[in-house]
Amino acid sequence: MTSSDVLSRRPSHDGRHIVILGTGGTIAGRAEQSTDVVGYKAGQVAVQDLIEGVLGLRRRIDAGWRIESEQVSQVDSKDMSHAIWRRLAERVQHHLDRPEVDGIIVTHGTDTLEETAYLLHRVLAPSRPVVLAAAMRPASAPQPDGPQNLDDALTVVGWPGARGVMAVLGGQVWPGAEVRKVHPYRLDAFSAGDAGPLAHVEAGQLRRLREWPVEQPLGLKVLAADIWPDVQIVTSHAGADGRLVDLLVQVGVQGLVVAATGNGSVHQDLMAALLRAQAAGVLVLRALRGGAGCIVPSSTDLLPDAGALTSAQARIEVLLRLLARRGG
Ligand code: SIN
Repeated sequence: MTSSDVLSRRPSHDGRHIVILGTGGTIAGRAEQSTDVVGYKAGQVAVQDLIEGVLGLRRRIDAGWRIESEQVSQVDSKDMSHAIWRRLAERVQHHLDRPEVDGIIVTHGTDTLEETAYLLHRVLAPSRPVVLAAAMRPASAPQPDGPQNLDDALTVVGWPGARGVMAVLGGQVWPGAEVRKVHPYRLDAFSAGDAGPLAHVEAGQLRRLREWPVEQPLGLKVLAADIWPDVQIVTSHAGADGRLVDLLVQVGVQGLVVAATGNGSVHQDLMAALLRAQAAGVLVLRALRGGAGCIVPSSTDLLPDAGALTSAQARIEVLLRLLARRGG
């Protein structure tokens, strides 16, 4: 595909059938004082009410779009749980199984969006678009960013050929496998490490910079287990030791991610404990402690690495590998 294909292909706007699933977050947040853009409660406004605030909705409905909505949860995404993840994945799959549905939008908090996006990407890898839409200002703010972000999500989800799990914030589209939150306040709070955005949404048009995301999905059955494996994150830092890891192994941890310094380096005392854990059958992965880029593997590595994943995404990777080993 050339860049002129991208620019010349405009959405048809005809007959799109979209399902919007609400999970909570700041996009659905409300403050007691409308001027308060930090002291609000996330997950207050019903998804149907959020949709009604999107200016571009009427135009799309007039052009023949069908928009359905469903409230899957209503949480601050810091409180996201495995149970909500499974229900969300099931509802996304349910709607993807309906041939008339062209795409799905999931409204979500920004704080753990990178985790939900990675999970949905690895489990479902859909051939239609599943777009997570979020906001940095609550719905009650004088100038909320949620309605524009939802409008942009409608542009992405209705775009011809769009596929895979993506996230939309501040006019930028991020692949679900790479998105991460990098700022606590700015309206453009997401990044994809040093890979850059997948596309920009500009005045209702999509300017795509990279290919749509693709993956070999694990399938929904991987999430079927009633009890998911215990996977924890530990951090390597100056003065680190192995006590926490040894205690976690004693209480039956099954997977560990170490948020590592530099190019995946780990304090020697913590490393000794992680190697003991690995020898005891715990699945251990090294991930970057922060910043962009990807751990560059070396022949001297003692533990496998999670490439460019954040430590929170690496935790999901370990979780899914353990679930897949169990056969779901
Ligand atoms: C949340 O993650 O639910 C709250 C913060 C946000 O959405 O920006």
